[in-house]
Amino acid sequence: MSRKALIAANWKMFKTPAEARAFVEAFLPLVAGHERDEIALFPSPVLLPTVVEAVKGSKVAAGAQNIHFAEEGAFTGETSVGQLKAVGGTHTLIGHSERRQYFGETDEIVNKKLHTALKHGVVPIVCIGEVLAEREAGKTAEVLKTQVTGAFAGITAEAAGPIVIAYEPVWAIGTGKTATPEIAIDAHKIIRAEVARLLGVEVAAAMRILYGGSVKPDNCTSLIGQEEIDGALVGGASLKPDSFAAIVKY
Ligand code: PGA
Repeated sequence: MSRKALIAANWKMFKTPAEARAFVEAFLPLVAGHERDEIALFPSPVLLPTVVEAVKGSKVAAGAQNIHFAEEGAFTGETSVGQLKAVGGTHTLIGHSERRQYFGETDEIVNKKLHTALKHGVVPIVCIGEVLAEREAGKTAEVLKTQVTGAFAGITAEAAGPIVIAYEPVWAIGTGKTATPEIAIDAHKIIRAEVARLLGVEVAAAMRILYGGSVKPDNCTSLIGQEEIDGALVGGASLKPDSFAAIVKY
């Protein structure tokens, strides 16, 4: 089965509205007519209206780096899925390792957010991945299976269609250390097998699994070019239009 790749830019806590607009103005001409892959930008929530406006008329999507699982309420500092949709966001990251590491997000919270995103028709990119100590202890498969099982609790095969997974080994994020294609392929196969166990082989075969962690123009082809790797979630190298465009065109 052929899966359309998704190349996603995670801008983290970078850029002002003016910088975001300048990025899009420079980036769109670089990817004009590029149909092979889907492209999505994930700016901070305060930049989203600017980015949505700037990408209008192109096929580039915009989404949030995080949503709350509640539809609304007294949750200071959070963004709801309804707010995301109201400003034109169509996608959201869920459970990025920085959310897990610095903001205490657990598999249970990830699961609640996944239910909320699906209920409201927002495309969720569920981020999972092992830390270095887990890899060195030979626990990578166990960690990935636990994260997939936890994230997917109560999700049915019928509802799972829009879900995208991003495999991001934590030791590769922002470190310049990229997983080899072999390491990434191995992890993706473990993840796909776990999805198959939970939701059936058809759902698993159709689900996109992205790789993330120090993806750069000079290593993207060897990763995204693999049959098992259905795109990339890019942090540092997504901040400059030319480098992100080079990755889109892997
Ligand atoms: P990086 O970040 O490309 O800078 O390693 C990836 C991510 O955190 O999604």
